[in-house]
Amino acid sequence: MRKSGIDNADRKRFSYKDARSLNAELLTGQTGVRITGVSVSEMSDQQVTELKTLISEYCVAVLPSQPLLPEDQLSFVGRLDPITFTPGEQRHPQWPNLNVVSLSSTSTLPPINGFHTDTSFVRQPPSYTTLSPKKISSHGGDTVFVNQYMAYEALSPVMQGMLTGLRFRHNAAQLKHLDEAPSEPVWHPAVRTHPITGRKAIYITQPKRCSEVEGMKPKESKHLLEFLYAHCQHIYSMYRHRWKPDDFVIWDNRCSMHTGVFDHGDEERVMHRVMCQGEAPYES
Ligand code: SIN
Repeated sequence: MRKSGIDNADRKRFSYKDARSLNAELLTGQTGVRITGVSVSEMSDQQVTELKTLISEYCVAVLPSQPLLPEDQLSFVGRLDPITFTPGEQRHPQWPNLNVVSLSSTSTLPPINGFHTDTSFVRQPPSYTTLSPKKISSHGGDTVFVNQYMAYEALSPVMQGMLTGLRFRHNAAQLKHLDEAPSEPVWHPAVRTHPITGRKAIYITQPKRCSEVEGMKPKESKHLLEFLYAHCQHIYSMYRHRWKPDDFVIWDNRCSMHTGVFDHGDEERVMHRVMCQGEAPYES
């Protein structure tokens, strides 16, 4: 067994109850916090720091009643980390760092997106992603999050040990403009250490973007990745967000996966998405 270092269980966690400058409550057992009583446009530096810590521990934060113009969203997100944009996605003509998400389906089967972490095919994938709804559907169109710390912690010490030091290949796929995305794949650790919490999380994404384990035979890769991807979608680690007007949702791609559920038929559902650049994933 190659496992080494400090376990998640040994770390002191920042609880939502420890928040001093923000009013935070749990949305599920360990995934998601709701923050109320503050406007993101008026947050102090201390509140921004505490918000980042809460998102990093609980993977996603929901801030209701935040009517944000594109410039408000961009300037707030720039306070979390430097802004980045996913190469290959559609840029807003006026705000080039803003991505308009307007997926829908008129067929009986909604398009399959699947759980993923954003833009893992670059060397420094995004830390936080934010969504501000512009049009929401009367039904469906939820976004679901899964907690990747919990997925790591639910593995046996033997499996945790086997993943230590392993790397997965991440490549671009399923993009509006695939030709604008990097053509070379990148290799990221199977387990990454979160720079704020110090906790370890499984770092995997949808099969089209993560299909090889370094050093393994194709069949071994396939079975390990299939097992882990399914393992990472445990119902106890999920939070399902039902959108309301003016919700503002922020998630941490380093410790979560998410998926839109595009089951709203031909109703319009439009989101403004802005994200921040993170560090190159590492395991320590
Ligand atoms: C995304 O996958 O980044 C967007 C999710 C959503 O529209 O709910």
